Amino acid sequence: MSLLPLTTRSHPLPPTVHGTGGAAPMPRTVAVVGAGAAGLVAARELLREGHAVTVFERSARVGGTWAYDPRSDPYPPCLDTAAPGAAAVHGSLYASLRTNLPRELMGFSGFALAGRVFAGDPRTFPGHREVLAFLDAFAVESGVAGRVRLRAEVVRVGPLAGHGERWTVAWRGEGGVEEEEEEVFDAVVVCNGHCTVPLVPKLRGIGNWQGKQMHSHNYRTPEPFQDQVQDAVSVTVSIVVVVGLGASGVDIAREISNVAKEVHIASRYTEDRLGKVDTFQNTWLHSEVDCIQDDGQVRFSEGSASIAADTFLYCTGYRYHFPFLDVEGVTVDGNRVGPLYKHVFPPKHAPNLSFVGLPVKTIMFQSFELESRWVARALSGRAELPGEEAMAAAVEEDYRRMDAAGKPKRHTHALMPDWVEYMDWVAAQVGEPPMEARRREIYEKALRCIWSLDDSYRDSWEEEEEEENR
Ligand SMILES: Cc1cc2nc3c(=O)[nH]c(=O)nc-3n(C[C@H](O)[C@H](O)[C@H](O)COP(=O)(O)OP(=O)(O)OC[C@H]3O[C@@H](n4cnc5c(N)ncnc54)[C@H](O)[C@@H]3O)c2cc1C
Ligand SMILES: *[C@@H]1O[C@H](CO)[C@@H](O)[C@H](O)[C@H]1NC(C)=O
Repeated sequence: MSLLPLTTRSHPLPPTVHGTGGAAPMPRTVAVVGAGAAGLVAARELLREGHAVTVFERSARVGGTWAYDPRSDPYPPCLDTAAPGAAAVHGSLYASLRTNLPRELMGFSGFALAGRVFAGDPRTFPGHREVLAFLDAFAVESGVAGRVRLRAEVVRVGPLAGHGERWTVAWRGEGGVEEEEEEVFDAVVVCNGHCTVPLVPKLRGIGNWQGKQMHSHNYRTPEPFQDQVQDAVSVTVSIVVVVGLGASGVDIAREISNVAKEVHIASRYTEDRLGKVDTFQNTWLHSEVDCIQDDGQVRFSEGSASIAADTFLYCTGYRYHFPFLDVEGVTVDGNRVGPLYKHVFPPKHAPNLSFVGLPVKTIMFQSFELESRWVARALSGRAELPGEEAMAAAVEEDYRRMDAAGKPKRHTHALMPDWVEYMDWVAAQVGEPPMEARRREIYEKALRCIWSLDDSYRDSWEEEEEEENR
């Protein structure tokens, strides 16, 4: 079916504008790609600003990452998302996952997660179902749910040929290629998430490796790591090397350590704590993997005895991936999405193309909301952006500063240590006050807790807070 893009559908603009600061000077038709936490709050902010919003969501529900999916993709990952069956599973949650931030840091303004129970789990660090139910309720109560088109996968986003300033969005429903349709929008906000495509380091000597490999994207439950007996012969499948010590690495290593024979965590950031971990069973901290030896054993760079392991479990994060983007002037290079002005706007296409939710190492829900508000206002003309050249120069300046600070390219969107400066900067663009000191402290405390390798923080948090405030 061939379609004339300009006439496929009409997008009536909303008759009334209920933005907080009065009518938006320039309401636009805006496509949002993805209905996870970022897409939902982007849609809310766009609606509040008076824009006409259509949210495209590939899956059958809203909530993105927070919709636990018991299926898991095979490893190694297939990167060709155009191939049938490739990257079938969006989610990367494990069954036991509880949030690593307290509820207080996972709400939206005017719609808190704290102080209300959504799925029967009132804990300060709730399980994933609670967060999903919160996002469902947010979608309904904000009026966004009615703007979401489910089972609608965006397959291409690009400038409309001959009409430089508008955007074509090609999408398809579950019927596959035959069903592909094109629509034209004034602007597109990309919120497709970035915890789906595994980022895997190439270990020296991996060619010598005969055991299993997997990534936290594929991890669901610890059972496969239980010591097993097959045909009356004991088959040990349980010496696991966990690579990476982020929030997922810590959780998964702990969970596996309860059933496996040994867990060895390899991380760059362990120097002062090498050796046995008291808070886990059968677990050792090492520095980075030095290599896999010719005999298949794993050697760590601190020089401890090498280990005969069965499985490499990479908890090494994810790649930014935008298979549908057909746009000159935005690339992903070494996991840097760029050039992007303050992680949001490609200078060449600002404000009509934007990205919400790229930064990590920050209070994510809050950064989604601030970025979304900035985008909504930049589109209506109520927030002013510098010219293309000035934005491009600012991006170059940011890159130079990262280089000077020794920050590797792949950490471009990891806001530490300047995360508060970034949040306050975006807040200032939309007339919001700087972050409260209390939120900053809570976030930094949560990070320290994760890093402490002592899981008890999730349940002792409240008592501790009370004690501190006494
Ligand atoms: C294991 C794990 C634990 C985490 N724990 C926490 C935590 O405790 N606290 C916290 O704040 N954050 C946590 N996070 C971070 C989490 O990613 C964010 O909280 C947030 O859910 C990300 O939202 P998002 O909307 O950017 O992406 P997602 O939630 O991934 O949503 C993206 C959506 O876009 C859709 N989509 C993708 N491509 C297309 C397309 N082409 N067309 C249409 N739709 C598309 C997807 O189907 C999905 O619904 C965790 C992440 C992981 C992986
Ligand atoms: C963005 O869209 C507006 C109106 O839809 C247009 O006037 C402007 O030129 C566009 N900007 C860019 C950089 O394409």
